[in-house]
Order: sequence, then C-alpha cells, then structure tokens
Amino acid sequence: MSEAKRLLVVSNRLPVTLTPGDDGWHARASSGGLATAMEPILKERGGLWIGWAGDDGSLAAEERDRLLDSASQGFSFVAVDFPPGEGPAFYTGYSNRSVWPLFHVFPSRMDFEPGSWRDYVNGNRRFADRVAECKREGDLIWIHDYHLMLAPAMLRERDAGVRAGFFLHIPFPPSEVFSLLPHGDEVLEGLLGADLIGFHTHNHLQNFRTCLLRILGIESTLDRVEYRGHLTKLQALPIGIEPDGLTSLVESDETTAGIIRELHREYDGQRVLIAVDRLDYTKGIPERFRAWRAFLKARPELRQKAVLIQVAVPSREDIDEYQDLSSQINELAGEINGEFGTTGWHPIVYLRHSIDRPNLAALYAVSEVAWVTPLRDGMNLVAKEYCACKVDDDGVLVLSQFAGAAAEMGEALLVNPYDEEQVTGAIERALNMPPEERARRMSQLRERVARNHVFDWAERFIKALETVETAATRLPLDLDVPLLASAYRGAEKRLLIFDYDGTLVRIADDPAKAKAPGGLIDSLSRLSSDPRNVVAVISGRMSRDLTEWLGSTPGLLLAAEHGALIRRPGNSEWETLTTVPPPDWKTRIRSILQHYVDRAPGSFIEEKEYSVVWHYGRLDPEFGGWLASELTATLDGLLSDTDARPVRGKRIVEVRPVWANKGALTAQLLSENADARFRLAVGDDTTDEDMFAALDAESFTIRVGRGYSLARFRLADPAAVIRLIQTLGG
Ligand code: ADP
Ligand code: G6P
Repeated sequence: MSEAKRLLVVSNRLPVTLTPGDDGWHARASSGGLATAMEPILKERGGLWIGWAGDDGSLAAEERDRLLDSASQGFSFVAVDFPPGEGPAFYTGYSNRSVWPLFHVFPSRMDFEPGSWRDYVNGNRRFADRVAECKREGDLIWIHDYHLMLAPAMLRERDAGVRAGFFLHIPFPPSEVFSLLPHGDEVLEGLLGADLIGFHTHNHLQNFRTCLLRILGIESTLDRVEYRGHLTKLQALPIGIEPDGLTSLVESDETTAGIIRELHREYDGQRVLIAVDRLDYTKGIPERFRAWRAFLKARPELRQKAVLIQVAVPSREDIDEYQDLSSQINELAGEINGEFGTTGWHPIVYLRHSIDRPNLAALYAVSEVAWVTPLRDGMNLVAKEYCACKVDDDGVLVLSQFAGAAAEMGEALLVNPYDEEQVTGAIERALNMPPEERARRMSQLRERVARNHVFDWAERFIKALETVETAATRLPLDLDVPLLASAYRGAEKRLLIFDYDGTLVRIADDPAKAKAPGGLIDSLSRLSSDPRNVVAVISGRMSRDLTEWLGSTPGLLLAAEHGALIRRPGNSEWETLTTVPPPDWKTRIRSILQHYVDRAPGSFIEEKEYSVVWHYGRLDPEFGGWLASELTATLDGLLSDTDARPVRGKRIVEVRPVWANKGALTAQLLSENADARFRLAVGDDTTDEDMFAALDAESFTIRVGRGYSLARFRLADPAAVIRLIQTLGG
C-alpha cells in the first residue's frame, strides 16, 4: 500500500451497522460488496471511515460512538450526525428508491418524490460537513457510491484545493435511462467536483461520458473532463477481492474444515449448486428459482440428487419493493419444494440470513456450481469469492452477462438471466462438464482473481488520485511579455504559429464577418517577412477565406481546415497533407444538419472541403447549446464507422476527419524547422490544445481567454495577441 497520506473513506454504510435489540443497541457486520471490499484496505492502511451508523437518530451520540469504537479494528469510525429520522429518510429515499433502480436499469421500479431530493441534498451536505470537520491538510478523500454523488462538488465548494476521488460501485446506466432521473443534471455536476471518478467497467464510464455530453453538453476525452475550470480524471478500475483470507480458510482453517465435513455428510450423493446474494431485486433470485423448477421438470432423474442452496441476507427491509420481493421468494421456494420435495430432500435450501466467513467459504468449497445470475450488477464479488475458494480448481461458475464481473471472467459460462432456456442449458452444461475443462476454466479464473487483489485495486485508485493534475496547476499563467520578447530576440530561427478566429480576430456570429483588419495584416507581415521567422496561421477556416483575408501577406504559411490543406509561402496553390479523398460521409449527415437548421432558424450550415460545420451563434445560448449536445451525440453514433467525428467548438458543431488536426501539422512544422530555438503557439479553442500538446515545455504556448489548458501562458483577448505581434515585429 502507498505510504504517508491519511485516507478518509466516505460512504453511506460503515462496515458495521448499529441495530436496536431487546437489550439495547448492537453493532453487526454490514452486508454488501462495498463494505466487504473496503474493510481490508482500511485495516491494512489505517485511516478514517466516515459514514452513517444505521441508527434512526434516537441513539445518543456518545453511546453511538462508544459502540462504533469498540467495533473498529485498526482504523477509526466516524459517524455522520443526523437529526431523528433524517438518516433513514436519506437512505430509503432518493438513493434507494430512485437512483438504485434506475442505475440498474429498472425504470419501472423508480419511485420519485420531490421531498426525497431535498433529503438527498441535505444528507450529502451533512456528509460533506463531517468530512470538512475531520479533514487535515494533505488528506486523501475517497467517496464511495451512489448515495453521495453530490458530496464531491460540495466539498470542493468549501475548499477548491481538496483532493477527492469518487468510486461508483453500481453500474452507470445508458444515457436514455439516466435522462429519466429527476435532478440528473445536478447529480452529474456533483460528481464533477471529484478529481477522479472510478467505474467498474469501460462500459459504465462511456455511459457517463455520453450523459455529460447529452445532458450537460460537455465534451470529454477517454480519461478526462474539464468543467468550470476543474479537471476530473475518469478511469475504469474493476474492483477485486481479498482472496487470501478465503483461500486460507478453505486450505488450513480447522473450523472451516469441520463445516466442510459436515456439509459433505449432509449433502452426501447430491450435486450442490450455490447462490449467495443480498435480497435484492437486481440479483435475479425469483428468475433463478423458476429456472431451477424448469430444470428439475426437464431432468426428473436429478431429483433427490441435486440441491440449490440459496443464501440471501435481507436488505433494505423498510422499502416496499424489498418486502414484496422477500414474500415472493418465500412463496416460490415453498411452491417448488412442495412440488418436487420428498421426505428428507428439498430441491431448494433457502437460508434467509447472513452467514460468517468460515460458513461462506465452506459452502463455496463444497459446491460444484456457483449460480451467479444478477439481472444487473456493478461488479458482483460473489463470483470472485467462489473462484477463490475453489482451491482444487473443481467447480463451474455460471455468470450473468449483465454483471460487471462478466467483462473479466470470460471462462465462466456467461448467460442472459432473462433467458430461462439458456440458463438451464448452462446449468446442464456445468453439471456435465468434463473434469479437464472445469479445471482449465477455473484455474484461469482463479489466477485472475488472485492477480486483481483488492489491495492493488485500491493502490491504483489512490495513485491515480494522488497524481491527478489539479485545475490549479493546469491554469496558464499570465504571459510575461518581456521574457518572451527576450527569448525571441535571442533566437536565430523562430517558429510562430497562430490560430485565427478567437486568437487574431474576435469570434463573430457570422463567420463571413471575421475579416482580418488592416492593422493585423501589417503587423503579421512585419513578422513573416523577417527571414529568421517561419510564421503560420493554422485555422479551421476554408482555404478560400484564408486566401481572401491573409493570402497577400508575404512569407505567411497558411493552413486551412485544421491542417487538412496548406499553402506555403510564395506559392499560390493549396496542397493537401493526405492522400485520403474528400469524405463521402458528408452526404450522409447533410439531411440531419438540415433538420437542425429547420428546427432552429438563425442557425446555418457551412460546408468545407473536408468538413461540415453547424453554426448556432445567433440562437439563444441555452437552446443552441442544448441542440448542439443532442446533435453531437447523434452524429457521434452515426459516424462511428468512419474517420469523422463531431467536435464542439465555440458556438459550432464541426464534423471533420480525425487526421485533420492542428497537432499533426504542428508536429510536421516542428520537424521541418528543428533548428527553431524559439517556438510559439497561440490559440483559444479546444482544437488548439492539440497544437499545445505537440510542443515541448520550453515552447511558448499561449491560451487566449480563461480556463484550463495545456498552454503555459495566457493572454486576455485578440487585442493582446496583436499587441504582442507588434512588440515582436518591432
Ligand atoms: P452487493 O454489493 O450488491 O451486495 P456483491 O456480490 O458485490 O453484491 O457483494 C456481496 C457481498 O456480501 C459479498 O462479499 C458476499 O459474500 C456478501 N454476502 C452476500 N450475501 C451474504 C450472506 N447471506 N451472508 C454473508 N455474506 C453475504
Ligand atoms: C451495494 C451498494 C453499497 C451498499 C450495499 C449494501 O453493494 O453498492 O453501497 O452498501 O449494496 O446495501 P445497504 O443498503 O445495506 O447499504
């Protein structure tokens, strides 16, 4: 584990939950993947775990804290204070009635009440307050899961320099589903307060990025997003388990060995299948029971020779959906046992409680098949725990393709849990699988589970969090003009690259009005006619516009359409840097763009040789931005099989080939002018970031305007850029 920095883990659920009994309150182990995964990490590393103790607020704070202290081992528990009733309301409201069902793609189970949103906001604020009270300079804050999606931004509001990561333990749904969530935009903004957001799978991460684009209109890259001057890193980090504890229970623990012997006696001559879940509708327990019924109907010879042991720990019992599910499962188990059972044999052994680790390890160890078929799951740790306990490699994992674990457990028999025939087919195959195949699959699964240890997972998250460049470190500094001028004068050869719109001239609503003023042309000419200088204007503009506005400036290199076309000094012809013919996708998207022009009069299409642009500068900014997000997302999907991508610029959506970018041309100019000791690039837009990225740390990279940028320096506006050019041109 990485040393030094103190870790503050923040989650709704602490690893122990306080519950009232006849003789007062007791601490019992919490159920669920989050607590199981994080507890060994804090035991190993130490730190604080901040969370809700599970009480209803009627327990005195001193008594609560005393109970928590006596339950903690090697790290401290800090309880978040809630007034009576507010903790349970926070827990059973928006978090578990709205977000949980929706994120697991059960929109029909979503239940939303406006008051529950207020409880969610207040609850998140209480967590953020508690963290702020406990936090010391240099602490790392790691917030977990869907209950606390507003907390990252709330913490950042209090302290812009806070170092806070967030991990989502449940799936992030597709944007069509997420968009049903009331206050979804605020949830996204809340998350973007984090420096790092981790997901179990790339698929969840991509869903999140699509939501940012469609709902907030924010562009992101594969691994980062910038919002309101703050940078958030995005990462897919599948969680692991701590396999050694379970493995050593099976290999060398006396108590576990005793339980294993007992189980062998009890189920002698029977094929044992195991299922272990929290009692949750996402876990597919009724579907599993129905499939087992169908299986036993089809395979009467296996009756009395096979048993499904279902361990299910009750969960969220104050929520109606969970009570209904519990009754439904009881009834089904009763029906099926009634239908097929005989004296001394029941096809389903239903244990409706939590079991301890030795019992769990023993059950996994004696079971031939693990039947892990959630309808949707962030990861699913049970699948991994089963493999860790199969020390003899003799067992088969049947796994839902809708569990995050499926992405990394390809040797399991993957099934669609909604397809009963497919599931029973997989159970049949598992029970008949030849020993060599079982061993081959299981040993590979087990190796991978051992490799992705939960400690490594935590270490990776913490490293990524520690190394995130904060927005503060990436905000360009005000340009020191005399420093730049002296470097310029001291160099024998210089390369100077300028963007056009927004850099040399102000952005105009009508692109045709962005004509270069005479003063600019004179100043540029003075620079470009110096034989020591190579001066280039690289623009997204069409070659025709650049020829008209800058074509007569002597010695100036012009690049149009982001570098797809260039015109070298002294040459009136434009050349292309590629052999790729002009694209055919333009015809595909023309009618879509036209549809947007029809919906939004005042917007218009600009067609260039290699790209097409939809301009919405004259629309109401909010409406225009909203349409632009929708259009970008639509085009992104439509063009996925081409080399073209939609990119949002300032009040435009531009579709252009990926190879046409300012970075590629900057790199080419650098290699043609390797002896240029002074290098300058000035730009204002996202497309100019590629230019900055292509230059080294000694180059003068200048962002025009405010905001996060790869550039080292900033200038306020085009007027400041022109003054700089005049200074250099002397
Ligand atoms: P979730 O987090 O949705 O509950 P996971 O499969 O990721 O699902 O994690 C569940 C964790 O809870 C596992 O560590 C599992 O062993 C444990 N667990 C589930 N049911 C029981 C039970 N009845 N008794 C003991 N532990 C259980
Ligand atoms: C899942 C969630 C956790 C939650 C756990 C148990 O694993 O991702 O955040 O703690 O279920 O649910 P509970 O409602 O008891 O906290």
